[in-house]
Amino acid sequence: MTAPTDDIARVVCLRTISGARHQLDVARWTAPAEPADLIAVEGIPGPVIDVGCGPGRIAAALAERRVPCLGIDVAPTALAAARARGASVLDRSVFDPVPGEGRWATALLFDGNVGIGGDPSALLSRVGRMVRPGGLIVVELGRPGLGLRQEDVTVDVPGAHERWFPWAWVGVDVLDQVIRPTGLVTEMCAPIDDRWFARLRRPPSTTHSGCSARDPTRHSQPGGTLGGVGSAS
Ligand SMILES: C[S@@+](CC[C@H](N)C(=O)[O-])C[C@H]1O[C@@H](n2cnc3c(N)ncnc32)[C@H](O)[C@@H]1O
Repeated sequence: MTAPTDDIARVVCLRTISGARHQLDVARWTAPAEPADLIAVEGIPGPVIDVGCGPGRIAAALAERRVPCLGIDVAPTALAAARARGASVLDRSVFDPVPGEGRWATALLFDGNVGIGGDPSALLSRVGRMVRPGGLIVVELGRPGLGLRQEDVTVDVPGAHERWFPWAWVGVDVLDQVIRPTGLVTEMCAPIDDRWFARLRRPPSTTHSGCSARDPTRHSQPGGTLGGVGSAS
């Protein structure tokens, strides 16, 4: 993935400051959830927050399965597409306060979204504070051997103003290193159809450093209709 662009339909390439180009899988984001996505979310408890939901394929699939799910994203075009397919979404950066702060049962970081912000440990700490103590984070990772890469990137859109932002790529081989400062615990890590997913758990105790540096309920806002609990199947 990706970029905080609002013209997702034209996004084709992510260019790094060192000149490498990464093809963006726009077709995947706009298509329905794939079997691998559905296996990755199987049995997760709701309510779920889908961080960087894009056009909402996972959020919509969960809604169809009666699992309460809110997608957050910063790209208006993606949010509009998500709403059109029936997903509940909010225009919100992961780094800003979200409704139900510290009360989500599960958070999702799919399709390279672990790279948002360029510092995966900081991002996972942040997402760790979004979920409740004992809550789950399902994160998609890169292939073994990819390691940790951090670079400024821009979305290559012909004729558009260049906007650079920090990004990261996280291989499954550096998962332990990346989550060490977060206090999260790896519960499962496995390939599904050539993609890699991990299930990370925020410990039920609030005494570990990464996720409890701040009281996760301090920024609580009314959870609205998100208090229900469901289970994907
Ligand atoms: C790969 S795309 C969507 C992927 C989507 N999770 C999926 O699997 O279909 C990544 C999304 O992250 C969003 N994004 C980037 N920075 C963000 C931020 N700070 N907060 C929330 N979303 C962000 C982008 O706008 C983009 O829609």
